[in-house]
Amino acid sequence: MRTRGAVLERMGLPRPYGDSRPLRIAEVELDDPGPGELLVRMVAAGLCHSDLSSINGDRPRAMPLLLGHEASGVVQAVGPHVSRFAPGDHVVLVFAPSCGHCLPCAEGRPALCEPAAVAAGQGSLITGAKRIREGGQVIDHHIGVSAFAEHAVVAEASCVRIDPSIPLDRAALLGCAVLTGVGAVINTGALKAGQSCAIVGLGGVGLAALLGAVAAGARQVIAVDISDQKLQVARDLGATHTVNSRDPDALAQLRQISGGGVDLAVELAGVVPALEFAYEAARRGGTVVTAGLPNPDARMSLAPVTLTAGEKSLKGSYMGSCVPMRDIPRFAEMMMAGKLPIEKLVTHELTLDQINEGFERLADGSAIRQLIRF
Ligand SMILES: NC(=O)c1ccc[n+]([C@@H]2O[C@H](COP(=O)([O-])OP(=O)(O)OC[C@H]3O[C@@H](n4cnc5c(N)ncnc54)[C@H](O)[C@@H]3O)[C@@H](O)[C@H]2O)c1
Ligand SMILES: [Zn+2]
Ligand SMILES: [Zn+2]
Repeated sequence: MRTRGAVLERMGLPRPYGDSRPLRIAEVELDDPGPGELLVRMVAAGLCHSDLSSINGDRPRAMPLLLGHEASGVVQAVGPHVSRFAPGDHVVLVFAPSCGHCLPCAEGRPALCEPAAVAAGQGSLITGAKRIREGGQVIDHHIGVSAFAEHAVVAEASCVRIDPSIPLDRAALLGCAVLTGVGAVINTGALKAGQSCAIVGLGGVGLAALLGAVAAGARQVIAVDISDQKLQVARDLGATHTVNSRDPDALAQLRQISGGGVDLAVELAGVVPALEFAYEAARRGGTVVTAGLPNPDARMSLAPVTLTAGEKSLKGSYMGSCVPMRDIPRFAEMMMAGKLPIEKLVTHELTLDQINEGFERLADGSAIRQLIRF
């Protein structure tokens, strides 16, 4: 079938993106779903900084690429040997599918699935197939999802079914911002009720993490960003304190608020100064979680003795260390119960044709989550 989607052909075009238009809306050809694959009609897709990082070159990928990885939709058709899904199912797309058989999958860490990482690097589905073409040229899938299109062929391993009573537009955010942010706090960081927590970087992912820390019962949720506007949003969402990390005494402020440092500091900005701040913000014996994805050439500096003598833990968090089949239904139910009000993260709704303007807003910091409605 034919569908419309946003294709990225070249990284690093200059801003403003409304003028350089790095994403071209193309009519592409989708193959029928093969074995273990589904055809999904997209309902909503969110604009995430990880997409922006492929546009600006911080997270290089092979091109041409049909971008987008945070989305929800409805199954339209199923390929051969699909038993878990049927047409009409409501699904959240997952950007790290899992094979169920490799060592990380066997250890209960599906976000680290080895075949999924290989497929992501090759721009294919985890089934090995590439199903998108334009005029005879093959277009890569983006981490198995390629959400910025009216339809997508995806592996069933890249989908989690949700209850049809859950509004599908809001559910899109479950696939990345919520899995990553809430998961970084409660799975990777294992935050306990009564602990103190700092959230460093307050975009869609960071503010989802903040909602997770509030829901988990942290006694202090200290929100940190370089933008006063984001700090105000954080207060509205339940932060107990805010610190602008551009202030020369920002770290001293945080240590004063928390009595020497927080139990858990989570970095979700994607830049090294934010990670270094989070590291310093954790108390002796505390935990630092990093979920940001800086440029692969970036390096952090830390004094190893503080890691040793302070018994700090520094942990990476990919997709919030989530098990999507377990966590998406849980987080969806929390959302429906008002315990994770993620709809408050949506600042803009767009059409597919407005996508370049949307990425300009994400780059200049004037939007939190923006949803494309199909
Ligand atoms: N680990 C994962 O699985 C995963 C998944 C999704 C996104 N990410 C990454 O998470 C990061 C955040 O994504 P997003 O969509 O929320 O981005 P965003 O652009 O919406 O938000 C980033 C925020 O960080 C703030 N910031 C920038 N420099 C800072 C500093 N020095 N100190 C404190 N705050 C600072 C910005 O002001 C902004 O509010 C990105 O790096 C993205 O690639 C990781
Ligand atoms: Zn994302
Ligand atoms: Zn696996």
